[in-house]
Amino acid sequence: MSTTTGSSILSRRSRRRSPDGSVFECAFLSLERLPEEATGSASYNFKRSRSVQSYWMPREIAPDLFWIQENGTDRSGFVDDSPPPWYDESDTLHIAQNTYLIDDEQSLLFDTLSPASTDRILDAIDDLLENSLDYLVVSHPDVPHAGNTARILDAHPEAELVAPRYGNAHELYHLDDATHVGAGDRIDLGQRTVEFHEATFPDASLHMWMTERTTDTLFPVDWLGYPHHGSEGLAFADELDAPITPDRLVVFHGRVMFWYQYVDVETVHDEIDRLIREFSPAMIAPAHGNVIREDPAEYMEMMKPVVERIATEGRTGTLG
Ligand SMILES: [Fe+2]
Repeated sequence: MSTTTGSSILSRRSRRRSPDGSVFECAFLSLERLPEEATGSASYNFKRSRSVQSYWMPREIAPDLFWIQENGTDRSGFVDDSPPPWYDESDTLHIAQNTYLIDDEQSLLFDTLSPASTDRILDAIDDLLENSLDYLVVSHPDVPHAGNTARILDAHPEAELVAPRYGNAHELYHLDDATHVGAGDRIDLGQRTVEFHEATFPDASLHMWMTERTTDTLFPVDWLGYPHHGSEGLAFADELDAPITPDRLVVFHGRVMFWYQYVDVETVHDEIDRLIREFSPAMIAPAHGNVIREDPAEYMEMMKPVVERIATEGRTGTLG
């Protein structure tokens, strides 16, 4: 299918429509239609009964390109006694896990969510694709990114597993039988073509980034992550209540890319300039931050003071 709606997603589930037609009730879930102006596209909010955590259905961020998000635990503890202006203490705070599904003549899933969301990613693939999955691409063998690889391949045994050619521990991660790709390698999906790149700012030696050329989307995996509030799930960066600032980006990078404390800052700045020049993305789809669709280069530029701060002040904490 080329688009998704809440009703089509729920068509395989037992449900009951509320009198005003806006709320669906399942055996253990309720589905609330969000205001159009809050989402910019058809979007629904799953709420688990008696739970503070909400679940958001996949969002179509470009034709046939779907964003699937896992909130994970509440990270409000990452904010100290002097909360920044962007922080809302009445809300929860999350570091997302994101995956992206392209539904073209052939389909491709980029990363898998964590094992805490196995059912969700399997359901999303089934609900969004008319046919079975063709390619499963893992950016690197880290649990939040690749933790559902075996389960997805069990459900879609015909899917081709694609992994980075970089690093030398493929056998350790059971990736020795995968198709290994790297800089310059492409997969033609029909209307869309994805291309792979060595990760400029990696989280592991066995790691790669991806772009999609038709939409000029950059998938920089662990780069450009930042926390979002529970009410901001699947909201574009420009839809957040407060604009993204370097200190918000430090919350993530100071914990995950803590090796920035050892870098030559000017060299990293030069690399950021190169990325802006060479990729010039129209959209950035990170693994741990909400999607950026307006002025992506400004956000990439914003990483310069982030690196400066981590290089000066050191690691800010752990993600855990
Ligand atoms: Fe990550």
